[in-house]
Amino acid sequence: MSLLRPRVLVFLLVATIFLLIFWPTNYQQNQCIDKGSQGFFQANNNNSPGPVIDAIRTTTITDTKGTQKEYLNAKGYITFLHIIRKQHKTAIESLTRVADIAVANDTVYSVTLKPQKPPSGDIHDYMSLGRYFWPDPTQPDGLPYIRKDGYVNPEFFTILDYVYMRKLFREVQDLGFAYFFTRNETYVDKAMYRIKEWFLDEETKMNPNLNYAGFRKGQAMGWRTGVLDFHQVFRLLQAIPLMRYSYKWDPSIEKGLKAWLSEYYIWFTTSKMGRGEGKTKNNHGTFYDVQALFLLDYLGRYEEAKSFIRVSVENRVNNGILPTGQQPHETDRPTSWFYSIFNLQGLFMLAERADHFDFDAWNYVGPEGQSIRKAVDFLLPFALNEGEGWPVPNIKGFEVNDYVKILELSYVIWGDEKYLNAVEELRPKAKAEQAAGLKLAKWEDNYLCDLALLTNRLLWTCLY
Ligand SMILES: *[C@@H]1O[C@H](CO)[C@@H](O)[C@H](O)[C@H]1NC(C)=O
Ligand SMILES: *[C@@H]1O[C@H](CO)[C@@H](O)[C@H](O)[C@H]1NC(C)=O
Repeated sequence: MSLLRPRVLVFLLVATIFLLIFWPTNYQQNQCIDKGSQGFFQANNNNSPGPVIDAIRTTTITDTKGTQKEYLNAKGYITFLHIIRKQHKTAIESLTRVADIAVANDTVYSVTLKPQKPPSGDIHDYMSLGRYFWPDPTQPDGLPYIRKDGYVNPEFFTILDYVYMRKLFREVQDLGFAYFFTRNETYVDKAMYRIKEWFLDEETKMNPNLNYAGFRKGQAMGWRTGVLDFHQVFRLLQAIPLMRYSYKWDPSIEKGLKAWLSEYYIWFTTSKMGRGEGKTKNNHGTFYDVQALFLLDYLGRYEEAKSFIRVSVENRVNNGILPTGQQPHETDRPTSWFYSIFNLQGLFMLAERADHFDFDAWNYVGPEGQSIRKAVDFLLPFALNEGEGWPVPNIKGFEVNDYVKILELSYVIWGDEKYLNAVEELRPKAKAEQAAGLKLAKWEDNYLCDLALLTNRLLWTCLY
């Protein structure tokens, strides 16, 4: 199913979710049943439906060609507008707040700031340390470092290339979207400045490779897992088209960026690290594919993207998901819950991209019945039960914030009420996690997420 074909249906579903989620009264007594003659949802237990049911009631009318059309009744429509307006205001305020912070920051973001050169001797080579690697206590100098999966070595933050790059991706995204909604040219200026600084300026630029990403002290080169560092480039790539209409947009900078990314893509697909990462079976492989697709798409290589997406989805679903829906390469990890959700986010991004290339990944089913939907369903009872009975070790708890976003989308995509019911139950917990600062996720994300869905933009704000 394409997300767009039944655009109106999706719109109504989203509206329904809004209403169900935000209406401040207790409507649980009213069972929702399938679309009936009176409209989308109907109360089935009495004749005095609560305000939600009343508000979303639709009326069917027949037009001059005999086509049946449905419209939201006045109360529902006005309520919907009211909520949208409120959400819009909060979302734009939050967006301009972060964009203004990005504008105000005049410090340099560059790979050249790190305190040590990578083994190549070229400070322009990006470098990051293996997140889960620690000194070997059996060696006098601790080298080479050894793996303690799930435990982040704080040394990771002594080399900040990773931090700057992620910040760059996020800020260009924020600036691009803030520009889209406000037409404030200052945002485009800053985005151009940052892109130029990171990719193009002789003094500060990064070379188009990740040879020293995921570096483990005591080794000569980086490690393939470091290729994941770059995957959030999707943030930057999807914000760029929103700024092209600005008179401040400098096509020569974009030309330079494209040349940089083309060169990077060669490294990404031919280097030992890049190829190794692509062959990985777990979330690293999934996000390698996500990265590949966004790059191909941005570089205008649509035919390649189109054939890649099919192979990718088949591979990731057939080999990354069991017929039960368990994702065995993620449940192998000490932080099994976190990675099961993280890989699903990657699969959702792949499926969303696939929609742009006429491939229905949402409903693709592997030879043994594996599917993305089954992977969503596998997690559901444990999410509802604070992880009770989770079949594998898990050292970092059972946060639900990111999973709730997956469930919201699942409802929009597959229309199964069990997702809606689960969202209803889990959303307070997700909100409490956000309020407690457990998650980077922004409070206001939902509106932009739904807008993204409706306008065939991306899932970025929906996922993380
Ligand atoms: C545009 O953004 C800049 C930088 O954040 C801000 O100072 C300025 O007031 C904004 N302009 C308008 C018209 O809102
Ligand atoms: C600007 O960004 C850098 C890099 O993240 C950060 O260290 C610095 O505190 C920021 N400065 C301001 C004024 O926000």
